[in-house]
Order: sequence, then structure tokens, then C-alpha cells
Amino acid sequence: MRRALVAGNWKMHGTRSSVSELIKGLQQLALPTDVEVAVFPPYLYIEQVLKGLEGKSIAVGAQNCALEPEQGALTGEIAASQLADAGCRLVLVGHSERRQIIGEGDDVVSRKFAAAQSCGLIPVLCIGESREEREAGRTLEVVGRQLGSVIENLGVEVFSRAVVAYEPVWAIGTGLTATPEQAQQVHAAIRAQLAAEDAEVAQGVRLLYGGSVKAANAAELFGMPDIDGGLIGGASLNADEFGAICCAAGS
Ligand code: 13P
Repeated sequence: MRRALVAGNWKMHGTRSSVSELIKGLQQLALPTDVEVAVFPPYLYIEQVLKGLEGKSIAVGAQNCALEPEQGALTGEIAASQLADAGCRLVLVGHSERRQIIGEGDDVVSRKFAAAQSCGLIPVLCIGESREEREAGRTLEVVGRQLGSVIENLGVEVFSRAVVAYEPVWAIGTGLTATPEQAQQVHAAIRAQLAAEDAEVAQGVRLLYGGSVKAANAAELFGMPDIDGGLIGGASLNADEFGAICCAAGS
């Protein structure tokens, strides 16, 4: 049985004072014990969040890491080893905003995935198709290529210590959500692709859905057989809304 995971990606949002408010709100939540919860603040606030959430069972992760796992001469980057040293447990890799706006390609994403794992962090591999790709009927091909690249570069076994997040780009921040059936179809394809290499790994890996998840649509999405939780953007900036989404993932 896979344990549900609900993760909040704060993206490039927050100030010291708004983060402090959000931490207070998170501290007050009564979270379901059968759901793992994580938040991904901007780098600058990771320490503040770790301190503020001490004693609360919410893991903290980063939104990105450097290509190289160890510290060194790489101006402006943060190494996975530094994130682990700070107390992070997870890291997002390949978020569509980084793929599209910053130009991260599949090979870079694989290197970051490997860097994260080599430092004991759990990578959350984000994959998903654009609106044009969906309209052209290429969803499974695109998602299959993004996932396949990591399998090819690193081997399928790496997914025994990783999470995959399916985030259709057209559903991110747009208020458009994939229907539970649309999301389930892609999640099933992701699991089948992994199962073709290793059935046990495929059964164990958690597949999150992301893209305009709110308290109002979360339960329906999380009720699908291959959706094991969510990666939440906008709605994770409101503690009560995020808490309600976490509860929707509980049994
Ligand atoms: P929204 O929930 O704001 O659509 O963002 C989803 C996302 O990109 C999470 O990584």
C-alpha cells in the first residue's frame, strides 16, 4: 500500500513575514496521520521553515538543486549536499517552469535527479505536456519521453527512492484541472512504463498529480487508483486550504 503524499510548492512566493504567517497556519493544522506532508519554500526561507515547523510532521524540500551534488565553484547554485546539510529531505526536479522558462532539458533533469539521490534526498520528478502537445494527441509520448530519459540515464531502480509528479502544463496556475479520468489515464501510463522495466518498483512509486488542485477537487482526484497525492502550487500558500487538501488524501 502506497502512503499518500501531499506537497506544497511555494514557487517564488513569500517574504519573511508572509512565510512566518504561513508557518503559524501550518503549525495549527490537524493533519491526517496516514498522509505524508511536505512543503517546498524558496531556498532563502528553508531555514526559517525548518525551524518554524520543528515538532510538526511536515517535511521540507527545495524547488531545485545544482547539477553537481557537492559544493564547489558554481556561482548562484545550491548543491544537493548543502540542501541535505540544511535539513531538506526532498527536492523538485524538472518542474515545467524550469523546463520552459529556464530551458532545462531532460539530460539536465537526470543529472539533478542523480545529484539529489546521491546526497540522500528524495527527488520529485515533474513531468507533463503543454496545451499544444495535448491538443495534438501527444500527451503520452511527451510524458513517456520525459520519464524514459531518467530511466535510460539512471536505470529504473532509482524510482524506488523517488516520487513522480504529473503536472499538465495547461493546468498549472490556470484554474483548469485535468479531470480525474484524464489524470488517471496518464498516471496509469506512467506506472505501466515503469512496470515494463520493474513491476515491484512501479507498484511502490508514488505518483502525484499537480495542476490547479484545490480543496474542492482534491478528493475526486486522489480517489483514482494511480493518483497517490498531489503537488500543490497556489493553494499551498493558504494553510487552511492546504490542510483541507491533505485531509482529502487521507482515508
Ligand atoms: P498550481 O496548483 O498553482 O496550479 O501549481 C501547480 C504546480 O505547478 C505545483 O508544482
